[in-house]
Amino acid sequence: MKGSPGVDLSVSLGPVRLPNPVLVASGTFGHAGEMSRWVDLGRLGGIVPKTVTRKPRRGNRPQRTVETASGMLNSIGLDNEGIDYFLAHQLPELLATGAPVIVSVAGENEQDFVQLAARVAQVEQIAAVELNISCPNVAHGVDFATDAQLCHRVVSQVRRACHKPLWVKLSPNVTDIRPVAEAAQRAGADALTLINTCVGMAVDWRRRRPVLGSVTGGLSGPAIKPIALAAVYRARQAVEIPLVGVGGIATVDDVLEFLVTGASAVQVGTANFFRPRVTMELLEQLPQRLQEAGCTRVEQIVGTLQVE
Ligand SMILES: Cc1cc2nc3c(=O)[nH]c(=O)nc-3n(C[C@H](O)[C@H](O)[C@H](O)COP(=O)(O)O)c2cc1C
Repeated sequence: MKGSPGVDLSVSLGPVRLPNPVLVASGTFGHAGEMSRWVDLGRLGGIVPKTVTRKPRRGNRPQRTVETASGMLNSIGLDNEGIDYFLAHQLPELLATGAPVIVSVAGENEQDFVQLAARVAQVEQIAAVELNISCPNVAHGVDFATDAQLCHRVVSQVRRACHKPLWVKLSPNVTDIRPVAEAAQRAGADALTLINTCVGMAVDWRRRRPVLGSVTGGLSGPAIKPIALAAVYRARQAVEIPLVGVGGIATVDDVLEFLVTGASAVQVGTANFFRPRVTMELLEQLPQRLQEAGCTRVEQIVGTLQVE
């Protein structure tokens, strides 16, 4: 999309060309139709729908979301209808929006990941597959993203079975994201999405109970932006493949911070809940900010952070 005269918003992430760098993050945008009252879906840089699993999942028991003083905690637990329903009913609607669709999949084991990615890859119109190896709200959900060797194993197996561009979504719940990022790249990932939510907990001390049914959940929203920026910065040091920044993005300056730090595109998550039109606002404001920075293309600002 040409944002305003003289500013080219399109970006390339390896083999994937996107009309602009503003995407929506998995699990925060439904399957897009829910948001069509507020958002011109065809203008989005990309849609990552809710992660899909092999079988339908009911998700975790309630309460599954709570607002804290500094961010939203959720423990949805990958509630979804399963891959058959997704391919038959939800994916066609997503593709009809005209926005690039990046399908997010999660398996309980390596075989699951391989099968899911292989099935999804048969749909030629999708732009990429995003492997959610970092969901903190399911049993063993983060294992693949907290261990570089496991990450390498699952990504390389999926790589062999999936000819579509492969994005791997990483977890912030690690001491150092660099070895995991490097393992994903070595295994053949085309891009990395970072970050998923940060493990957190809310407590109702009067009832002596955790607020969430699953006790712990994932923290998201502006509170985690500094964590996400540090993850992008560190991953940028470790890998050459493109990065997609996600975590707390709510303003156009947030977008630019991620781009400068080294992300080629961003995904907006929790902000969709409190400002449903946020992505449209970002797209309206981005060209002017780029012009102010003397850029005619988004790619001119990516990774321009000066640390010395
Ligand atoms: C309610 C909710 C559900 C989510 N579901 C998923 C999911 O299914 N798959 C996934 O990869 N990430 C999921 N996420 C994580 C987001 O995609 C994103 O990585 C995270 O929330 C950080 O971005 P944000 O601070 O902009 O929300 C979910 C987040 C929220 C708040």
